[in-house]
Amino acid sequence: MAGKLMRAVQYNCYGGGPAGLQHVKVPVPTPNNDEILIKTEAASVNPFDWKVQKGMLRPVFPRKFPHIPGTDLAGEVIEVGPGVQHFKTGDKVVSVVNALNGGGLAEYAVAKESVTAARPLEVSAAEGAGLGVAGLTAHQALTQSAGIKLDGTGPQANILITAASGGVGQYAVQLAKLGNTHVTATCGARNMDLVKRLGADEVINYKTPDGAALKSPSGRKYDAVIHCAASTPWSTFEPNLNDNGKVIDITPSPTALMTFALQKISFSKKKLVPLVLIPKRENLDYLINLVKERKLKTIIDSKHPLSKAEDAWAKSIDGHATGKIIVEP
Ligand SMILES: NC(=O)c1ccc[n+]([C@@H]2O[C@H](COP(=O)([O-])OP(=O)(O)OC[C@H]3O[C@@H](n4cnc5c(N)ncnc54)[C@H](OP(=O)(O)O)[C@@H]3O)[C@@H](O)[C@H]2O)c1
Repeated sequence: MAGKLMRAVQYNCYGGGPAGLQHVKVPVPTPNNDEILIKTEAASVNPFDWKVQKGMLRPVFPRKFPHIPGTDLAGEVIEVGPGVQHFKTGDKVVSVVNALNGGGLAEYAVAKESVTAARPLEVSAAEGAGLGVAGLTAHQALTQSAGIKLDGTGPQANILITAASGGVGQYAVQLAKLGNTHVTATCGARNMDLVKRLGADEVINYKTPDGAALKSPSGRKYDAVIHCAASTPWSTFEPNLNDNGKVIDITPSPTALMTFALQKISFSKKKLVPLVLIPKRENLDYLINLVKERKLKTIIDSKHPLSKAEDAWAKSIDGHATGKIIVEP
């Protein structure tokens, strides 16, 4: 593929929102030793992508300008680096691209073998592309941070999932119900039926007083909160938690990080636990298999062609997606 050009979306500086995205032709990337070159069939947009553009994660992200955003994709293997062991040309895969480099919103992208999983025919490219950051975050929050066993063998746990209609929340509800859990979920009025269908035992409208207070309609206290909504004061969580209850905060604000530090030094039994996603192939494999077995679905908010990637970008910035926003080349 050396010298071949591809269509991609990139930006040159912080800020600018959807209007800051440029449609360009750039060389197809070359895979390094442990990398795979993938022809993109579907990519998904995450809030992380536009937060990087806004400069909210500077100076770490992005590594340099111009930057092609996008971490989540599904597609077909075109070329493999010499050290790649498990994939060959023609394989269908799902990958999480290195977030520092980005590259997902393009016709071709490179990803490490260690965060690439095989995609069976039963899993569409769009379903697979949704799983990356959002599915893996929901999985990590429930299993690693909250200690829920998704084979149902653990002790019964009461879980609250906030923003259950969003990219992460939709997966979190479905995965939590594979465990021995009672799930309370928050979302807006228009998505309450959907979130119930995903498996939530009780659903609260976040725009009502009880919803804003995160109160379980059945009076339950939570063993774990998978907090996918915007920052919420600890004083709102605290009265709703069991004695050893944890809040897994996937978007911790500076105040939340302060709460975390203070709780550490005071040996608090109720805890706020910030989460940073560490993508792993074994977890991607697990999620893909659940989709194949129809035990997990990707709710798709909307699909956009790469030529209109700015619409997908605007939709994500708007903050009202129901499920995943997909971009197709
Ligand atoms: N730590 C990590 O590694 C990590 C990984 C992934 C994501 N994240 C972060 O997690 C957050 C969620 O990501 P996402 O992809 O799920 O976002 P998303 O898909 O954009 O979430 C949108 C959904 O959230 C709902 N919502 C907004 N505010 C709410 C509230 N106060 N209560 C209940 N529902 C609410 C919206 O419902 P309405 O339309 O009805 O308002 C909408 O359906 C983002 O801030 C993201 O950056 C962090």
